[in-house]
Parts: sequence; C-alpha cells; structure tokens
Amino acid sequence: MKVAVIGAGTMGSGIAQACALASHDVKLVDLDDAALQRGETTIKNSLERLARKGAIEEEAVGAALDRIQTVSSFDALGDSELVIEAVYEAIDVKREVWSQLGRLTSPEAILATNTSSLSVTEIASFSGRPERFCGLHFFNPVAMMPLVEIVRAMRTDPDVIEAAVAFIEGIGKTGIVCEDKPGFIVNRLLVPYINDAVHALAEGVASAEDIDKAMKLGANMPIGPLALADLVGLDVGLAAGQALLEEFGDPKFRPAPLIKQMVRAGKLGRKSGEGFYRYDEGGSR
Ligand code: 3HC
Repeated sequence: MKVAVIGAGTMGSGIAQACALASHDVKLVDLDDAALQRGETTIKNSLERLARKGAIEEEAVGAALDRIQTVSSFDALGDSELVIEAVYEAIDVKREVWSQLGRLTSPEAILATNTSSLSVTEIASFSGRPERFCGLHFFNPVAMMPLVEIVRAMRTDPDVIEAAVAFIEGIGKTGIVCEDKPGFIVNRLLVPYINDAVHALAEGVASAEDIDKAMKLGANMPIGPLALADLVGLDVGLAAGQALLEEFGDPKFRPAPLIKQMVRAGKLGRKSGEGFYRYDEGGSR
C-alpha cells in the first residue's frame, strides 16, 4: 500500500520503519527538514540494530530504507491509501494538521492518528471525513513493541476498522480494537503507574534506581517506571496524564509536580539527554 506517515519524531519514524519493513511504500512527512534527517538516521540505526541481532536480514535494511521517501509538504499525498499522523500531542496542532490533510488526501484513504491520550473522535472531526478515521496507537519503541491499539471513534465506519486490523496484522503487529475512551487500554493503566512512581520518588520512598530495580525484581517489569518515563518522554507522559485528568476529572490522574518541573526544565528523558537518568548521544545510560 501507499502509506503516508505525518511527523518524523520518535513514533512517526518507528511507524514508517514498520510499514517499510512490511514492503509498503512510505512517505515520511515533516515540515521541518532537520526532523526528517533525524528521522531517517533513527530508522537506519534501528534497522541496523535489528539486523545485528538477526531479527531481520541484512538486505532488508537497504530495501526498507529504499521504500521510505522523505517529504517536507502535504501537497503530494493525493495517492496515499493510508495516512497515519504522529505529530506533537496537542489538540491545536492536530486540528491544524488534519484540517489540511482532510483536503489534500484521497476521499478513499483511511485516516489515522497515533495519539496516545487525546480524543480520536475530536481529531477525526478536524479531517472532515470522520467515517474514514480511526486511531492506530503504536508503542515506543515501535521496532520492539508488538501492540497497536486500533481505536474505534464515534463515527468510524466498520469497514475502516476491518481494514485497519488487516493492515496491522500485515505489518507483523498485534492489533487490539478498543473504544475511544481516554487513554484507550494501556495508557489508562500505565500513565497512573508511572505518575505514582514519580510521586513516590518525590516523597523520598527510595532513589530512582531503587524504585526501578524494585519493579524489575518484584514485578518482573522489563524496565522500571522511571526509566520507562525517560524512554517515552516526560513531556509525552505529562500530556497523557493531563488529558486523562481532564477527561475523567479524577484526581488520581493529577500529574506529579516533579514531572511538571522536569518538563519545564527541559529534562525530557532519553530524547533530551536527561530525565530521571542521564543518557549519551546513542540513548544509553
Ligand atoms: N530498534 C531496534 N532494536 C531495538 C530498539 C530499537 N529502537 N530498542 C531496543 N532494541 C533491541 C536491540 O536489539 C537491543 O539490543 P542491542 O542494544 O544489543 O542492539 C535490545 O532490544 C535490548 O535493548 P536495550 O539494550 O535498549 O535494553 P532493554 O533490555 O531495556 O530492551 C526494550 C529495550 C525492549 C524497549 C525494553 O526496555 C522494554 O521492553 N521496555 C518497555 C517499553 C514499553 O513499555 N513501551 C511502552 C511505553 S508506553 C507507550 O509507548 C505509549 C505511548 O503512547 C507513550
């Protein structure tokens, strides 16, 4: 299929990579050339890591890269059959992007947002084609996480969900269809978990290292909640927490003051070089 991925950040790059590895023709779109270059580098590094450990053939690296075309405008998307948006997690940005994409994409195209916590129904309304619109919520890092939440919005046509399920299976991921409720399935549970870890840290329960170590050794988590917050991005986690608090109005979703302060200080986690831990250029501690 001809797939357009809008936004060359961490998630958009991972989504473009997954589609290209499954032999789709991908246009990775970002209005910022520097973001496109960073996205291409991220994808190349990730593919090479997968090839090094034998998860994909060496030849698949070049073949996948050849199927990704970087594009710095929305004007050439008329032939895209699937459009997956992964731009900044703010409703005003989504509104601006989808008001353009709704006009510049084919009426037959399936339209999707990778939003992690905003209303898919509201985002769909900006496109002018809510019946063709669903959520495709990927998980970070996309190369390693098999799940995609397929979100049915209030006006999504059933055949769009069917097509989305088939597409997600086709790229080797596992799709779970869910309703357009705040946080869908995973983030509704994961965001409060991470947030409570930050509250515990701020209250001095234990050090960041020991809180993470406890959850790895005591609950068999692959990484601890604070390392996970650094992986996901503290700004992304904060935005998700604020969206859940607004939608549910339940104080249990109130973001920990410490995470707000860290975001204000630019300590966003792996992507900024420092969050609860410090990271080198390659994202290693
Ligand atoms: N691309 C390719 N391969 C990768 C990769 C990537 N981006 N990240 C990890 N790998 C592979 C590599 O082969 C790596 O081995 P290598 O470094 O020798 O090549 C191997 O995985 C191990 O990776 P790491 O050395 O980084 O260490 P970990 O043991 O921590 O494994 C992980 C990485 C599999 C991502 C693991 O940390 C994990 O499972 N973390 C939890 C991730 C998670 O919970 N994600 C969901 C977040 S919530 C979300 O995304 C929702 C959104 O809305 C915010």
